[in-house]
Amino acid sequence: MAYPAIRMRRLRRTPVLREMVAETRLSPADLIAPLFVREGIAEPQPIPSLPGVVQHTVETAVKEARRLSSLGVPALVLFGVPAAKDPTGSGAWDPAGIAQVALRRLSDELADDMLLIADLCLDEYTDHGHCGILDGCGSVDNDLTLARYADVALAQAAAGARVVAPSGMMDGQVGAIRAALDGAGFHDVAILAYAAKYASALYGPFRDAVNVSIAGGGDRRGYQQDPRNRREALREIALDIEEGADMVMVKPALAYLDVIAAARARTDLPLAAYHVSGEYSMIKAAAERGWIDGAAVALEHTVAIKRAGADLILTYLAGELAEALNG
Ligand code: PBG
Repeated sequence: MAYPAIRMRRLRRTPVLREMVAETRLSPADLIAPLFVREGIAEPQPIPSLPGVVQHTVETAVKEARRLSSLGVPALVLFGVPAAKDPTGSGAWDPAGIAQVALRRLSDELADDMLLIADLCLDEYTDHGHCGILDGCGSVDNDLTLARYADVALAQAAAGARVVAPSGMMDGQVGAIRAALDGAGFHDVAILAYAAKYASALYGPFRDAVNVSIAGGGDRRGYQQDPRNRREALREIALDIEEGADMVMVKPALAYLDVIAAARARTDLPLAAYHVSGEYSMIKAAAERGWIDGAAVALEHTVAIKRAGADLILTYLAGELAEALNG
């Protein structure tokens, strides 16, 4: 009888052995928690399509940031949900806009205990729901939008953001924001570029979270990337690095693990991936029906994102993963 000489199972025998030879380790330090802060509410509001996630008041956002920090989560990315919207999204750069109010409070209360990243876009603030300023024909004007992004970056930096994260997929946004920040003396404010952001169907629950619907049933395919393209993502990433990005991101995560791996092979910059709202909600919905073990799938998915090459993961699972990882 010829038994196999090479036995892969030897190193899988016990938890200690498996832990010792594990190639990928996930830690709370890898996680960035998205946080929604809504203007004009007295109590946190649940988001039905994102079970367990809420629109915070400024007060409860501070509490949640403290909780995340005590769990070892180093950073949050803040999204503002304004009480009123207008065609240009002026709440996004208003010093009294909700994101700026929240950033100021968070930075006063938490100082350097929590890295404050501000998502930089207009869609939460525009009444038409697009990520920029519309031209006469209803499409987003790239260069007019860049000027507004520069205003937003300055408002966020002045309010205490240590990192700004442009997510609008306008051409030249990283360069325009870097120039604006440097021109105002914010040399130390870093840019996390949503470099390869796809026009994905997985952002649905997020749009509920920020009360956004795109006018006329429109979509973002005129500025976000086509899911069929991988090489194009590498061009986007290369351009953002040239323009001065300090960190780059691929978004969404699981359907784009090949893009994450390719990006990892091309850049030594810190690489982030956004495990987006739809990815989170699919886990929650299936777990609620008892069809999967939600906690186990959450861990499997996020480990996969790291294994593909991401250093950092933006995820609504940050709190619960950190709790599980801290055991
Ligand atoms: C745009 C933005 C979006 C997300 C983050 N920033 C939505 C979009 O592009 O439509 C989606 C995040 C998620 O789905 O969790 N400001």
